[in-house]
Amino acid sequence: MSMAISNTTTTFNALFFFFSVVNILIIIISSSSSSSATAVVVDEQQVLLTFKASIEDPTSSLSSTWSNTSHTHLCNWTGITCSTSPTTPFLSITSLNLQGLNLSGTISPSICQLPTLTHLILSQNHFNHPIPLHLSQCTSLERLNLSDNLIWGTIPDQISLLKSLRVLDLSGNNIEGRIPDGLGGLKNLQVLDLGRNLFSGTLSSSVFGNFSELLLLDLSENPLLVSEIPSEIGKLGKLQQIFLQRSGFVGSIPDSFVGLVGLEVLDISSNNLTGEIPRGFGLALHNLASLDVSQNKLIGPFPTGICNGKQVINLNFHSNFFNGSLTESFEECLKLESFQVQNNGFHGDFPNGLWTLPKIKLIRAGSNRFSGEIPDSIRAAKQIEQIQIDNNSFTGRVPVGLGLLRSLYRFSASLNSFYGELPENICDSPAMSILDLSHNSFSGRIPEFKQCRRLVSVSLADNSLSGNIPNSLAELPVLTYLDLSRNNLTGLIPPELQNLKLALFNVSFNRLSGEVPTSLISGLPASFLQGNPDLCGQGLPRTCSVVENKQRSIQLSKTACALISVAFAIGLVLVSFGFFSVYKWSKKKSGPGGWNLVLFYPLRITESDFIMGMNEKSDVGHEGIFGGVNVTRLRSGEFIAVKKLMNSGSLSIKSLKADIKILAKIRHKNIAKVLGFCYSEDSIFLIYEFVQNGSLQDVVRRLEVQLPWNMRLQIALGAAQGLAYLHKDYVPRLLHRNVKSANILLDSDFAPKLTHFALDRVVGEHAFESTIASEFNSSCYIAPEFGYNKKATEQMDVYSFGVVLLELVTGRQDQLLESQDSVDILTWVRRKINTTNGPLQVLDPKISGSSQEAMLGALDIALQCTSVLPEKRPTIFEVVRSLQILEG
Ligand SMILES: *[C@@H]1O[C@H](CO)[C@@H](O)[C@H](O)[C@H]1NC(C)=O
Ligand SMILES: *[C@@H]1O[C@H](CO)[C@@H](O)[C@H](O)[C@H]1NC(C)=O
Ligand SMILES: *[C@@H]1O[C@H](CO)[C@@H](O)[C@H](O)[C@H]1NC(C)=O
Ligand SMILES: *[C@@H]1O[C@H](CO)[C@@H](O)[C@H](O)[C@H]1NC(C)=O
Ligand SMILES: *[C@@H]1O[C@H](CO)[C@@H](O)[C@H](O)[C@H]1NC(C)=O
Ligand SMILES: *[C@@H]1O[C@H](CO)[C@@H](O)[C@H](O)[C@H]1NC(C)=O
Ligand SMILES: *[C@@H]1O[C@H](CO)[C@@H](O)[C@H](O)[C@H]1NC(C)=O
Ligand SMILES: *[C@@H]1O[C@H](CO)[C@@H](O)[C@H](O)[C@H]1NC(C)=O
Ligand SMILES: *[C@@H]1O[C@H](CO)[C@@H](O)[C@H](O)[C@H]1NC(C)=O
Repeated sequence: MSMAISNTTTTFNALFFFFSVVNILIIIISSSSSSSATAVVVDEQQVLLTFKASIEDPTSSLSSTWSNTSHTHLCNWTGITCSTSPTTPFLSITSLNLQGLNLSGTISPSICQLPTLTHLILSQNHFNHPIPLHLSQCTSLERLNLSDNLIWGTIPDQISLLKSLRVLDLSGNNIEGRIPDGLGGLKNLQVLDLGRNLFSGTLSSSVFGNFSELLLLDLSENPLLVSEIPSEIGKLGKLQQIFLQRSGFVGSIPDSFVGLVGLEVLDISSNNLTGEIPRGFGLALHNLASLDVSQNKLIGPFPTGICNGKQVINLNFHSNFFNGSLTESFEECLKLESFQVQNNGFHGDFPNGLWTLPKIKLIRAGSNRFSGEIPDSIRAAKQIEQIQIDNNSFTGRVPVGLGLLRSLYRFSASLNSFYGELPENICDSPAMSILDLSHNSFSGRIPEFKQCRRLVSVSLADNSLSGNIPNSLAELPVLTYLDLSRNNLTGLIPPELQNLKLALFNVSFNRLSGEVPTSLISGLPASFLQGNPDLCGQGLPRTCSVVENKQRSIQLSKTACALISVAFAIGLVLVSFGFFSVYKWSKKKSGPGGWNLVLFYPLRITESDFIMGMNEKSDVGHEGIFGGVNVTRLRSGEFIAVKKLMNSGSLSIKSLKADIKILAKIRHKNIAKVLGFCYSEDSIFLIYEFVQNGSLQDVVRRLEVQLPWNMRLQIALGAAQGLAYLHKDYVPRLLHRNVKSANILLDSDFAPKLTHFALDRVVGEHAFESTIASEFNSSCYIAPEFGYNKKATEQMDVYSFGVVLLELVTGRQDQLLESQDSVDILTWVRRKINTTNGPLQVLDPKISGSSQEAMLGALDIALQCTSVLPEKRPTIFEVVRSLQILEG
């Protein structure tokens, strides 16, 4: 029947079929044609097929429905939406949405023959031709979204014919040339997004004059644009969001911006704007949520009246653009979350009202010449997360109110004139990660830092602090950067600091004395200890005298004492555990009858074969839930790998089967298959497919094996893809939770397969966690936040993956036990790359220089993955993408 229609050539025949066919035919009485009214029949199916003909569809997203033999109703074709309207009582196509389908080729204007099409959305594809001129025939279009394609060429002037357009989104393409004046004819526009393109030239101010309905304007990231900001923009009274960042805007902010009272977001950062903020700006912004004018060349005082809380305003503005007076009383800026003015030339008092806003999260004002103090009333800013005011002229004391803020995550105020003692509660925020108070005039002692378990980086350098280095610093589990240089600190360097994985430890130019703990000497530049004439130790100008050794041994014996009591406690636990096991064993009705074998794949094996195989090779693993793996050869000649887990006894066979089945159903080339399991009252044996070449750890340890770089990259990419599959594509989503090179197996082609994944599902969260916790101190694969955040996250897997990637890049093992500086790989790399020779010295010397660039790229990815702050790590998908790029 469809064939009959597409072959129909006369109106008569079309009408004849009208009520009998499934496809929709629409008749329009077109009165626009010059001479007489003609009936035009649109065969919507044919229009769609013509449109499809010019599209390349590599993943065949359209082919299942878009064909002339399709049995699916047109309105149910991929991406099509139909509706009725008063003018077209039939169901007709109103929307075509093919976003994100990997389509390329040409956008055929034939689509404009659909008379009721209002939405055309082709974003996130690979369309790679200019915008066709004849798209202007789609006169009923209200929403045109071509964002994130590879469209080039200019915007045709004819675009002005799309009079009904309300949303025009061309962002994220390579469109060039001037922004055409014709655009100004689209009076109904509410959203105009031309960001992330290659537009050039100057903006003609008349374009913007008619956009009285405009709510959102985005011209950001057009670096070739060199233009002043047209003052007409400031007259568009309905504007809520303006994005002009990272383009080539020059000149000053138009005075007319004072009139934009509905503004919610203004981002004009990273341009070349000069001059002052217009007088009166920001005095009437009820809805402002985010203001970013950073990275420009703006000068002058910042309007101090901005966000000054409740106020009564009675101002007269007489500028060219805004005439009139405002008399109003309101609470302003109550919605402001983000205020960024850094890297400009502002001077004068910092607007005081900002410190106490109820919603404020981010204040960045660094590298200006602001003066003023932080008021104690900052305690009212309960939501604040980051304050960065480095490199200004702030003064006064740090108020106690600051320490009361519970979500403060970063406080950096270096290079100012703060003075006085640091308040005891300065690091009380449980979120605090970065504290930089260097280059001020603080005095007194360093307070005990106890509450801030997430503290990663502290710099108090170049102040006048005195007293000892507090021991409590050594109890902060993720402290990585510690700079106390250029103060007046005295006493010993606490030996407990050796327990931290410090990548930076700088105490130079103080008055410290006594013996320096050995591991703080080896591996760190000597310059970090200089300027303390009374320090002694191996490799330092002064060797330690007997008295100093004695002092130290007192300290050491304290530590030893603590260790012994810990060991005793562990021993006690072990003894009672042993007792418990014996007790259990004696109760157990042992023998093969106590075993159950469940297979998910056809293996020729019985329970007794399996037990026998296991008994022959009795060394099925060490104690502990994650014992080793053993390989067993079945009678059939097949090999299997077996992993022994402790059965904590709390799991029923039914739930165990269900849980392991979840793992067994995974099908991915980079994930080892779970073939089945065998369990008894106290053990679970997971049966995995056998993989030829052992684990990546074996390969890294066998130093004589020299994997070329491209093979290492393939291993990294495969492992990342396996992980990405677990994180995102598999249902239910799984976390691996134990990514390490020992758990990446390599098949005969050295293709990686993840193993021992999601074992928390098998043994239960509790048993799993207690194992991990015992590994915590020894394993550098475990993300630091595991210390305070027990909830497992994808970011923890990414961290562990980053460590594996470092092993591949450096050719070193996770722990460098053989060498004397027994730091883990991560600390080793972090320390090395900071020194003058830079990252090159950590690359595996066994690999030729031609791979250097790619290896540096991989090193960079690995360092991002292993960021101490979880939120700085990329997702595993981003990792996959970056590795693919390195692969070329
Ligand atoms: C589209 O498909 C749904 C279910 O697949 C069906 O219920 C509906 O009737 C179809 N629509 C048309 C217009 O055929
Ligand atoms: C588009 O292509 C990418 C990479 O080639 C692929 O991962 C993705 O699944 C494709 N999307 C669709 C909808 O086919
Ligand atoms: C255009 O489409 C993309 C997704 O395909 C969407 O994120 C974006 O918000 C759309 N633009 C507008 C203005 O709606
Ligand atoms: C704005 O509208 C006026 C009046 O309708 C019209 O004359 C003018 O050409 C329009 N401006 C632009 C840039 O299209
Ligand atoms: C600002 O102007 C200078 C010189 O005029 C130019 O070198 C620089 O790239 C511009 N910066 C931006 C962000 O456009
Ligand atoms: C401090 O700010 C000034 C501008 O106010 C800038 O020139 C200088 O580079 C900044 N210094 C640092 C260390 O950021
Ligand atoms: C360091 O402390 C000593 C003794 O308390 C004092 O004399 C000296 O001025 C202090 N130095 C600095 C730079 O504060
Ligand atoms: C399995 O156990 C046997 C006997 O203890 C041992 O010889 C063999 O090396 C083990 N295999 C693996 C892969 O660990
Ligand atoms: C090492 O790098 C960190 C982070 O980039 C930085 O804070 C620290 O100052 C650097 N240390 C040295 C010695 O360069």
